[in-house]
Amino acid sequence: MRSTRIVEMLEVTEAAALAAGRWMGRGEKNLADQAAVEAMRKQFDILDISGEIVIGEGERDEAPMLFIGEKVGAGGELIDIAVDPLEGTNLTAYGQPNSMSVLAFAPKGTLLNAPDTYMWKIATGPAAGNVVHIDATPTENVRNVAAALNREVEDIVVCILERERHVDLIREVREAGARIRLISDGDVFGAVATAIEGTGIHLYMGAGGAPEGVLACAAMKCIGGCFMGRFQFRNDEERKRAEQMAQCDIDGVLDMDCLVNTDEASFIATGVTDGEMLRGVKYFGSGARTHSIAMDAKSGTVRFIETVYRTGAEKFWVRME
Ligand code: FBP
Repeated sequence: MRSTRIVEMLEVTEAAALAAGRWMGRGEKNLADQAAVEAMRKQFDILDISGEIVIGEGERDEAPMLFIGEKVGAGGELIDIAVDPLEGTNLTAYGQPNSMSVLAFAPKGTLLNAPDTYMWKIATGPAAGNVVHIDATPTENVRNVAAALNREVEDIVVCILERERHVDLIREVREAGARIRLISDGDVFGAVATAIEGTGIHLYMGAGGAPEGVLACAAMKCIGGCFMGRFQFRNDEERKRAEQMAQCDIDGVLDMDCLVNTDEASFIATGVTDGEMLRGVKYFGSGARTHSIAMDAKSGTVRFIETVYRTGAEKFWVRME
């Protein structure tokens, strides 16, 4: 039953990735996003769930579908759903690595309703999960991760979004002696990659979208890593929205139980463009191939799944109009 649900949800991110992948490198980030949103929304409709979108494309008045509060599914199990149909719209539009279609789901009332503001984040995999803290300095965190992983600091790679707001963070990490994987977008990947062997990323730090923080935290709940956040409001309006939406201390540390208050979360991502964790969608004469990761906290499973959709599988066989 549990694995059936995982496969059904996997088909949701696969549908979105198959649709978005058609837009790779075409310089049209909004059209890529729209294709992913529409495919994802359509696929939810056939599932026997009573889902509520708690992290989505925005408020009801600014997003035509997959807006916060939207009910999806044909009726059944009550669940919270967090989605980012295309995480890294620019990455797709310019054919750059690590764009993915992402969702998390969990029992109703357990995923934090995070407003679309910034969140300062720190994430690392299970081996160093107990030695980092959002209130520690970057130098302390880098040193502690190195010690926990039994490595020198210069063997540690920190993933950071390349933004003006991170100039001080980047300087301090360099001074501490660690190496940096600067990314132009896509911090769900940055955080989750810290828990996936082979990506070469050990620690994620910096400010990115709060909704993406909930998604990344769901993954870390499944895989046993550490994630902490703190809202960073740009104005009073954002603060007010957080007061209305989020059931937590909006100025405090957002720990994993506050962001994802359950041990029954699941996280699924399908690659749109090639990256260190997932391969992107490949289209060929007789079909298309997707590559996904599906994690489930309850069963303690992490699956890498490759799916081939043959041309006959019309449901998913998206071509650009
Ligand atoms: P989109 O997929 O909506 O383009 O967001 C990509 C992203 O890089 C996220 O991964 C990240 O959390 C956020 O944008 C960072 O926001 P900003 O670009 O404003 O720094």
